[in-house]
Amino acid sequence: MSTKVKPIVLGVNIDHVATLRQARLSINPSVTRAAMDALDGGADYITIHLREDRRHIQDFDLVDLLKKNININLEICPSGEMVDIAIKNRPKFCCLVPEKREELTTEGGLDLINNYDQIESAVASLSNAGIAVSLFIEPVKEFIDAAKSLRATSIELHTGNYANTKDEFQDIELAKIREAANYGKKNQLIVNAGHGLDYSNVSSIARLNSLSELNIGHSIVSRAVTVGIKTAVSEMKILIERKI
Ligand code: PXP
Repeated sequence: MSTKVKPIVLGVNIDHVATLRQARLSINPSVTRAAMDALDGGADYITIHLREDRRHIQDFDLVDLLKKNININLEICPSGEMVDIAIKNRPKFCCLVPEKREELTTEGGLDLINNYDQIESAVASLSNAGIAVSLFIEPVKEFIDAAKSLRATSIELHTGNYANTKDEFQDIELAKIREAANYGKKNQLIVNAGHGLDYSNVSSIARLNSLSELNIGHSIVSRAVTVGIKTAVSEMKILIERKI
């Protein structure tokens, strides 16, 4: 019997291509073109976060990307307005994330305990529309149990604390992610991870056998400024595949 481990799938988040475009309210750079180039470079799907404040990705980006039949993982907060947009457009995947107006980027996972009812309704509405739902959470058992009882398909473990620490502190964060990933997988959830991952810290995360997918944005788009998005994605893909 083969014991081959499935390769980790890479979702490339292209929000910051839109950040650059919105800086001038221009049509350039093209988010759809960037998505196609990222796929050429080895991205397995494209992730976009349609924020309530529309600071980067706009509603028309979602429409344009889906028109091109691009596999989209749509990140949204679990509000009624955003869930309705997802249901109207029907991406294959939706990842529910918390949102705060003042934050520079998503700052942590969903509080599935205190917002249980709102998230339960969002998961049910999206699932009934045939959209697979992932919940972005901290690597904590209590939240994994809640994600399971909320009937999410997947969880995405927040790797921000891992990315923002060093040495033995980073080892502690990595151990939390490893333990949470194993626990999620044992509970029949698809376990993904993301936030703050870059070319220097991705390998230890890519070596975790219980993880299925990684979502990476800022570091890839930053590298793309100098080498182009296709090369930036393929360099990341090599690190993930070789786990080096
Ligand atoms: N996963 C989630 C749920 C996110 O909100 C983000 C940022 O939008 C990412 C992954 C990607 O994070 P980064 O841009 O730091 O790679």
